Amino acid sequence: MTAGIDPAEALDFASRLAVEAGGIISAHFGQVLEVRHKGTVDLVTDADLASEKAILAAITARYPGHHIISEESHTGTVSEATCRWVVDPLDGTTNFVHGLPLFAVSIALQIDGRTEVGVVYNPAQNELYAARSGAGATLNGEPIHVSATDALQEALFVTGFPYSRDDVFQRSFDLWHEFYNRCQGGRRLGAAALDCCYVAAGRFDFFYEAALKPWDICAGDLICREAGGRTSDWSDEALPFDGSRVLMSNGHLHEAALEVLGGAALEG
Ligand code: IPD
Ligand code: CA
Ligand code: CA
Repeated sequence: MTAGIDPAEALDFASRLAVEAGGIISAHFGQVLEVRHKGTVDLVTDADLASEKAILAAITARYPGHHIISEESHTGTVSEATCRWVVDPLDGTTNFVHGLPLFAVSIALQIDGRTEVGVVYNPAQNELYAARSGAGATLNGEPIHVSATDALQEALFVTGFPYSRDDVFQRSFDLWHEFYNRCQGGRRLGAAALDCCYVAAGRFDFFYEAALKPWDICAGDLICREAGGRTSDWSDEALPFDGSRVLMSNGHLHEAALEVLGGAALEG
């Protein structure tokens, strides 16, 4: 029990909720969507909003008094509440809008700033990634583990590019070039929560990105660490809650990736 919460029960609740929200999203998948723009290329659909509504209602009913940080209703203020849920109701909205089945619901519970529970669910592939602090990570109930790759030239990495079209955006392409030169290959999937989980499952050897948000990585960070991975910022400091300069790896390649990222003086 932490802060009166049973983490095993919270994980079960979050898992069921992610699958329920995934069902809501799936019902919209492939339909003609009303797409609104939050920025030039940053999208929101009815599916994002319906998923968020259901998740927020369920958390509020089950855990009244807990704080919730969720992408589409985020006010910009990050509360330091003891119990804090961090939610992306639909990660990978651009994929979703284009009918690409790479998207997910991401739900995490933090207690006193530590992530205790994390779940990421991709309804299109029926893949539920889940972790509880100290209890390991699973995919559809089966334990998962990061890869054993220990040389960059044998590594497959994944990354993403920010919505902003600024210096960070430009520099992200320089980094892509630098890593691509050194590795076996690189991918850009467009759903950061899944990027984290695919490192956890050993599909990718590492994942980095310059400018994410708390809801993109909070659950995935725990899932990756519980699968034996290592997470940090680009200077090997603790992974920032705000999602800036994220590195998640199988551990073996962390130093090598940091060396490349260390040269990246990204502002913003
Ligand atoms: C986005 C995805 C993408 C990442 C963007 C995120 P959204 O989330 O995770 O991979 O590169 O920075 O904003 O907007 O689809 O929830
Ligand atoms: Ca997201
Ligand atoms: Ca989202």
